[in-house]
Amino acid sequence: MKAIIYTKFGSPDQLKLAKVEKPLPGENQLLIRVHASSANAYDWRHLRADPFLIRLMGAGFLKPKHQILGADIAGVVEETGSNVKQFMPGDAVFGEGSYGGFAEYVCVDADRFVKKPENLSFEEAAAAPMAALTALQGLRDKGNIKSGQKVLINGASGGVGTFAVQIAKTFGSEVTGVCSTSKKELVKSLGADQVIDYTNEDITKNNEQFDLIFDIAAYRSFSDYKPILKPDGKYVLAGGSISRIFQLMFKSMIKSKNIAVLIANINQKDMLLIKELLESGKIKSVIDKLYPLEETAEAIRYLEDGNVKGKVVITVKS
Ligand SMILES: NC(=O)c1ccc[n+]([C@@H]2O[C@H](COP(=O)([O-])OP(=O)(O)OC[C@H]3O[C@@H](n4cnc5c(N)ncnc54)[C@H](OP(=O)(O)O)[C@@H]3O)[C@@H](O)[C@H]2O)c1
Repeated sequence: MKAIIYTKFGSPDQLKLAKVEKPLPGENQLLIRVHASSANAYDWRHLRADPFLIRLMGAGFLKPKHQILGADIAGVVEETGSNVKQFMPGDAVFGEGSYGGFAEYVCVDADRFVKKPENLSFEEAAAAPMAALTALQGLRDKGNIKSGQKVLINGASGGVGTFAVQIAKTFGSEVTGVCSTSKKELVKSLGADQVIDYTNEDITKNNEQFDLIFDIAAYRSFSDYKPILKPDGKYVLAGGSISRIFQLMFKSMIKSKNIAVLIANINQKDMLLIKELLESGKIKSVIDKLYPLEETAEAIRYLEDGNVKGKVVITVKS
């Protein structure tokens, strides 16, 4: 089968089109014919082994352990493992498989996947799992979001942010999104009540205070945000600068109950909720660009450049 592989850590130049063996499913797995995958920061962090610690967390120490990246996957089940009762060959499914989506076929654990809504394209489905689960768990589980609360979403225009704005609105909160100038219209169109362009305005200098700050682009310190967090408010950090994340992890352990650091937990129960939200039209995938499998390196470069609005999707089977 065709796949995009990498055998050394490094830039997207390491990603090469190759012919590799089609994988065989384990007893709890699905063999999926991939129709679409999407690119996440997770992929380029594994590609670059950035931060270094990722080598100890399953990426491989000296060289990549998983040569095919692509965590988000949508496709059709070709074969099921002997223990799988929930799916049948021919089912269209989507989910987060951690690796392997940048290929024609992938084996994934069945309990991370759900059936794809019929009213969603494979591309729309592939755009959602990791970003939407992160947004849901950050707001609901770590942020304890409630109706009527004032919620600030920093990094509102990217993959996680575009889902976070929409999911926060489904909880009935009042949403302020922070993004750069060219993405303001998009964030507004997703339902944000207020959009702050951080290139023109510093939200931390406003008098307004928030019940929940969901920081997906943490490039400044928590103390900057403290004045705009209500005394019983919650600051949830999901992404951004790695040094900020480590600092806050430490702080949240020893100091403050106001701070939480999210590590998304991929599970079928939450995937079912994401599926329902997408199916009902309460949330939608925002796709900036589509790339064919052969141009996966280009897709990752575009994502890393930081100009993406929503998600970058790889079409594997059109
Ligand atoms: N904790 C977890 O389990 C988990 C799961 C998934 C992702 N993440 C992390 O979450 C982060 C975002 O993921 P994503 O998929 O949304 O990435 P993305 O699609 O690349 O979006 C990144 C966002 O950051 C904004 N941004 C970039 N530089 C900025 C700066 N200096 N100040 C403020 N905003 C800036 C970008 O848009 P503007 O042009 O509008 O600034 C964009 O909205 C990544 O760091 C990723 O590793 C964590």
